[in-house]
Amino acid sequence: MIAIYPGSFDPVTLGHLDIIERGSRLFDQMIVAVLRNPNKMPLFTVQQRLEQIRQATQHLPNVEVDSFDGLTVNYTQMRKAQVLLRGLRAVSDFEVELQMAHTNKTLSTEIETVFLATSNEYSFLSSSVVKEVARFGGSVDHLVPPHVALDIYQCYAQNHPVSNPMKTEAIPPLKSSPMEPPLEKLQEREA
Ligand code: PNS
Repeated sequence: MIAIYPGSFDPVTLGHLDIIERGSRLFDQMIVAVLRNPNKMPLFTVQQRLEQIRQATQHLPNVEVDSFDGLTVNYTQMRKAQVLLRGLRAVSDFEVELQMAHTNKTLSTEIETVFLATSNEYSFLSSSVVKEVARFGGSVDHLVPPHVALDIYQCYAQNHPVSNPMKTEAIPPLKSSPMEPPLEKLQEREA
């Protein structure tokens, strides 16, 4: 059985990777599908996100990483997949995810949405949390794979911040960077 794991992955987190690894044990093939969304202003380009996920999943032979646009169900049908895989972190996810699953069911009765409960340790984690922490100079080493953390620090033109992720008070102020978009642009960015 082939499963699609769709999302923005801006950037991929350890929570996403937890779902990918567990999904790869449940399904014959897993396709991690990055949405090309022209309405959002991401931190990373689709190409960067594909590379970040590919590097993080290279030890999983049945995982493919691809991008798509348009409706997820159309892409799922095109790839001859039967399952849409999504992670559920908390009750707050449930409403949105259930609406999405029901909408997708009205578009294709053949495709089943399967939810995996995110492992407890990642129940708070989202791409937007990672960006928020990094933007204000905190360490994201415990939230994303090392190569993604480097990309993030580079993006915010920071040096590696603190070695202890719990200790954030001694972080030097953000250096201004030509890559740093204006605050209002950051606020427009996706969750
Ligand atoms: O990681 P995200 O941003 O929570 O992923 C959301 C995503 C990409 C799975 C969802 O927005 C999506 O499927 N978008 C494609 C458009 C679509 O199919 N919409 C109908 C379902 S509501």
